[in-house]
Amino acid sequence: MEQNQWFKDVTFYQIWTRSFADGNGDGIGDLYGVYDKLDYIRSLGVGGIWFSPLYPSPNADYGYDISDYRDIHPDFGDLRQFQRVLDKAHRLGMRVLMDLVVNHTSDEHPWFQESRKSRNNPYSDYYIWRDKPNNWDSLFEGKAWTYDEERGQYYLHLFSKKQPDLNMDNPRVRREVREIMRFWLNMGVDGFREDVISFISKREGLPNGLPIPAVGGMMHYKDGPHIHEYLGEFRRVAEEYGAVQIGESPMTTVRSALHYLTGETKSMDMMISFDHMLADCIGTEYMHLPFSLRRYKRALTRWQYTLAGRGAWNVLYVENHDHPRIISRYGSERYWRESGTMLAVSYLFLQGTPFIYQGQEIGMTNIRLRSIDEYRDIASKQNYERFLTFESPAKRLRRVHLSSRDSARTPMQWNAGRNAGFTAGKPWFVVNPNYRYVNVEREERDRHSILQFYRRCIALRSKSRALLRGSYREFYPLHPHIFMYERVYGSAAYLIVCNFRDSETVITLPPAYRDKPLQLMLDNYPGKDGMSPVMEAYEARVYRTKR
Ligand code: GLC
Ligand code: CA
Repeated sequence: MEQNQWFKDVTFYQIWTRSFADGNGDGIGDLYGVYDKLDYIRSLGVGGIWFSPLYPSPNADYGYDISDYRDIHPDFGDLRQFQRVLDKAHRLGMRVLMDLVVNHTSDEHPWFQESRKSRNNPYSDYYIWRDKPNNWDSLFEGKAWTYDEERGQYYLHLFSKKQPDLNMDNPRVRREVREIMRFWLNMGVDGFREDVISFISKREGLPNGLPIPAVGGMMHYKDGPHIHEYLGEFRRVAEEYGAVQIGESPMTTVRSALHYLTGETKSMDMMISFDHMLADCIGTEYMHLPFSLRRYKRALTRWQYTLAGRGAWNVLYVENHDHPRIISRYGSERYWRESGTMLAVSYLFLQGTPFIYQGQEIGMTNIRLRSIDEYRDIASKQNYERFLTFESPAKRLRRVHLSSRDSARTPMQWNAGRNAGFTAGKPWFVVNPNYRYVNVEREERDRHSILQFYRRCIALRSKSRALLRGSYREFYPLHPHIFMYERVYGSAAYLIVCNFRDSETVITLPPAYRDKPLQLMLDNYPGKDGMSPVMEAYEARVYRTKR
């Protein structure tokens, strides 16, 4: 009946290898380090790993600019080491997803090196070249077009100028993509997370977009004219292998996600949504606002209801390599343990497949570096530049503190020793100074730590049919501080209650739960009466009952 639906019953762990664990002392995380930590990952109760790009890359966008799709970055190891990691993960019962980045390559990829040489070589149509640029902006820096002296034309890059967009209308490019997929599937990987996949088909003629900074051209390249046809070709390869596909699609609405997830055009098993990550910002993360629980709930619930109604499946996450740390955003560093555990409850029990980003499970928080020069991420530097003309340096730096992707990219904090146990050498990037307290080793010993709490959440989830597959319903959607929802399957029901306020809040149970014996399955205030109508600051509870 349900074929190949294993992904619905597991929790994934995302590894951004460069900052995970350094196995050879050169200051850069690698697959030797990952190999040694696989038992730790498994101990969380995780059933799958998603690797951010591991391929050779000049690192203009830390791996999302690929110069060879069939190899491993020498900083990370080699194909043999990757195979060892893959096999060990499988032995431990974890599947492995690769990141497939095919909207663009690095400008150092041999295809681009060839393509720029002339207008009539075998690779000349692998990229998008024009004599005259249109008005599109890049999402990372300035215009989306850069002039290439060698070829005497402009090439399109929706991201940095070191990330030229591939011309997916060229059947040879699509064949390359299918072959890349086969290459990794033949090694044994279980599927792909597909980077900005909704951007791969551009409107014919590349018309001008709206005169809006950064996103003005998007109407002509997001969910483009041939997207479903192209993805259908890739889907057939994935299906041959029973591989899972997860699409990443910035600024996608739930309605457009349905086209990727259902019906004739179904090409993905899941789509990564961004809506719930916009509860403290507008549009993109550089326009900061105070956190609004209502925005968070509205986004989550919209995706929950709409996808369930059409038999589609959600990706659940609150952190990844593109977002600052969630405690610093939607929680409170003052109520670090309380808000960190509450935020876990807020999303881990929704319907869908949860992802946990490295360090999230120990409650890592944002960094606040003293100068923009200390930041590494191209998007963060750009956010700083963007407001150059009308904001003071201090204000712009604060903006970066709030929004930088680099906060997710500091080294994983393994222990209270030198460099947080990440490397025996000199770390490639600063370690968050809170590592003496926020680290795996200490939290392993503390029964009430964020780490132990994540384990309990995952364990509870994975042994309950209702929490895995049950229906979702939200209560009190307009409440400004409480997020309350149920998951129901047959006669089993769970009620999840989260207080997003940094002070007490009195709750009322929904009528259906008032006269039932409730069993408290999980609570982040150890030793407190989890039955009281008064919820403490950032308290979270999970009840079970019968219908
Ligand atoms: C995706 C990636 C992000 C990258 C961008 C361009 O959004 O997650 O890290 O910068 O695509 O590849
Ligand atoms: Ca290393």
